[in-house]
Amino acid sequence: MNKKSIALFASGNGSNAVNLIYFFQNHAQIEVKTLVCNKSDAPIVEKAKALGVEVLIFTNEEFESGLTVLQELDYRAIDWIVLAGFLRKIPVNIIRGYQNRIINIHPSLLPKYGGKGMYGKFVHQAVIEAKEAKSGISIHLVNEEFDKGELLAQFETEVSSNDTIDSLAEKIQLLEHKHFPIIVEQTLLNQ
Ligand code: GAR
Repeated sequence: MNKKSIALFASGNGSNAVNLIYFFQNHAQIEVKTLVCNKSDAPIVEKAKALGVEVLIFTNEEFESGLTVLQELDYRAIDWIVLAGFLRKIPVNIIRGYQNRIINIHPSLLPKYGGKGMYGKFVHQAVIEAKEAKSGISIHLVNEEFDKGELLAQFETEVSSNDTIDSLAEKIQLLEHKHFPIIVEQTLLNQ
């Protein structure tokens, strides 16, 4: 039986992408086939190559039109797209081409602190400024409304009055690394 294949999309450091690559390295039913990035100098590019994963870099124009990206994914028979710290909006033709087959991770308890401009440390800054008692991560399917697709799972962590943006970012990253691969695995195997 063919394995279900994933294209990981990442824009920056890529700690979640690397974690997913390791998790699925010797998996019987799922494989990470390619890593898609929008920046040739993003740290994840060299990390993915070093782990033997093919890297595809697209320009901003190619991302906006979506056509070349879709063609390349189709050529590789990619079944699922997993957004692991991908900071560009996904165009509608890719969302329609991969209906209910795009998973995103977001570093807050959606619907709180989602939407335009809410990514990475901006999310943690907003959570700290609002003096929230808890934050967390959301793993969800991607639809045409930014950060509003069906939730697959959420995990919480406490925010203390001593927390800084960096300390909260660390807590969130721990949650992401612990849970994201398992939720991706469960979602793909349940289809
Ligand atoms: C992660 O915290 C992820 O949840 C967030 O970017 C970070 C990427 O870290 N994604 C978003 O904010 C999407 N709106 P990483 O590059 O170390 O995986």
